[in-house]
Amino acid sequence: MGDNILELRDITKLYPGVKALDHVSISFRRGEVHALVGENGAGKSTLIKTVSGAIEPTEGRICVEGREFEALTPALSRENGIAIVYQEFTLVPVLTAAENIFLGEFLRKGIFSCQREMSELAKKLFQRLNIQMDPDVKVGELTTGYQQIVEIAKAVLKNAKILIMDEPSAPLTNREVEAMFQIVETLKAEGVTIIYISHRLEEIFRLADRVSVLRDGQYIATKAIQDTDKDDLVRLMVGRTLKETYPERNFTQKETVLEVNHLTGNGVKNISFTLKKGEILGFGGLVGAGRTELAALLFGSAKIKSGEIILRGKKFDPNSPNAAIRNGICLVPEDRKQQGLILEMTVQENLTMAVRKKLSKRGIMRESDSREFSEKYVKDLTIRTPGIFQRVKNLSGGNQQKVVLGKWLGVDPEILIFDEPTRGIDVGAKQEIYKIMTEIVRQGKSIIMISSDMEELLGMSDRMVMLSKGRQTGMLEKEEFTQERVLNYISEVVEDE
Ligand SMILES: Nc1ncnc2c1ncn2[C@@H]1O[C@H](COP(=O)(O)OP(=O)(O)OP(=O)(O)O)[C@@H](O)[C@H]1O
Ligand SMILES: [Mg+2]
Repeated sequence: MGDNILELRDITKLYPGVKALDHVSISFRRGEVHALVGENGAGKSTLIKTVSGAIEPTEGRICVEGREFEALTPALSRENGIAIVYQEFTLVPVLTAAENIFLGEFLRKGIFSCQREMSELAKKLFQRLNIQMDPDVKVGELTTGYQQIVEIAKAVLKNAKILIMDEPSAPLTNREVEAMFQIVETLKAEGVTIIYISHRLEEIFRLADRVSVLRDGQYIATKAIQDTDKDDLVRLMVGRTLKETYPERNFTQKETVLEVNHLTGNGVKNISFTLKKGEILGFGGLVGAGRTELAALLFGSAKIKSGEIILRGKKFDPNSPNAAIRNGICLVPEDRKQQGLILEMTVQENLTMAVRKKLSKRGIMRESDSREFSEKYVKDLTIRTPGIFQRVKNLSGGNQQKVVLGKWLGVDPEILIFDEPTRGIDVGAKQEIYKIMTEIVRQGKSIIMISSDMEELLGMSDRMVMLSKGRQTGMLEKEEFTQERVLNYISEVVEDE
């Protein structure tokens, strides 16, 4: 097998009504960073799950360092030096970072007797990987960004020869991504092979040696990174040329719908801004900047300590999400898996959950209306599913996210708060989401858009507010937008009082 550490041969995976993988063959070289790209539902996660032993291929062979397998189990996969960081987190929130990392190793000895030892080991591991984190903090108290870093540390610990990362950067922003890149580069230098799935193409050009493309469960191509570019990859992924563009818009409205004065609560302090009718107001910041916490205050899911919110000229106290929704404010949360979906229910049930009233006549929602509504959003958002009756838990990660977006887009509220609207979403669907957002504001509604995607912030916002460590560090008008200014504001050092 030359210097291939891993060879996948003719892997096929069938699910009822879905050919997730169709005779896919890819080889991975020892010590390379090999990226895997493709649209939502292309089969990336399914492919790497056959390598981690989470699922059994319907057909095909997996060769690890010359040993051939029809299927791997998680244990076999681990024994062969394969470690994986999943798209879905597998951490236990009530345990500390150290306990989570060493959970498997210490389970037999009883985790409570080894707390100090685990904490010391975690500290060493963090040092080696250059991670600044307290190993004794409870994982449930960490932001998504730091949770992800714990996930990576946990996988790395096992002295893996092959590390598989399924969208590791999705929940991270600039600084954390940098830290994660360092980890990847450290490991690569140690000779580890890294299989890296991401929808952020700029990361792939920064990190990968080679890249393989999947489309509709089929293998399309493998390219050396120097032999390809972004347009080429996108074309291979979607099967046609697609330019990343932001819809043209002429924002002129002056009427204020929402005014926030000196708002203070958990994680944010003294935030003031106005939101205009028909405006997309962008919020930039690093992980932990307080943007999600601010959204929680506006949406009534966290307590306001001081300051005020004025909605359409009247003082407004959103003391619960229901109160916010009744007053026309909706939130599409960042952590969509936990807050936005019922995985056991179908695509249709999830999509119509928030619009039952709207679709109902005299208290009854007609099945045909519900179906029509669901099919429209499946089509508009290119949700890849065998049908609206599929359970959401069977959809790919990106497609689950699209379902949550669809659920709230249908509600048609006056103010929509989007927390990372296109995280983990493929290039084609991103365009659709931008179009829908543009349509929403064209109707005179307003959007608060929290995003860690610099291009998206610059491309979609009419004005932008920057936060750092819970404080407001800047505000930019459209004509002042530059990447450098945004970066300066979001990384501004804020003194603790
Ligand atoms: N357990 C399952 N049951 C039925 N269908 C499934 C199951 N798991 C995956 N699929 C389907 O297989 C296809 C490939 O999914 P996969 O998760 O591999 O996509 P992906 O490339 O990782 O996408 P994303 O970028 O959205 O994460 C999808 O159409 C998905 O709905
Ligand atoms: Mg996936």
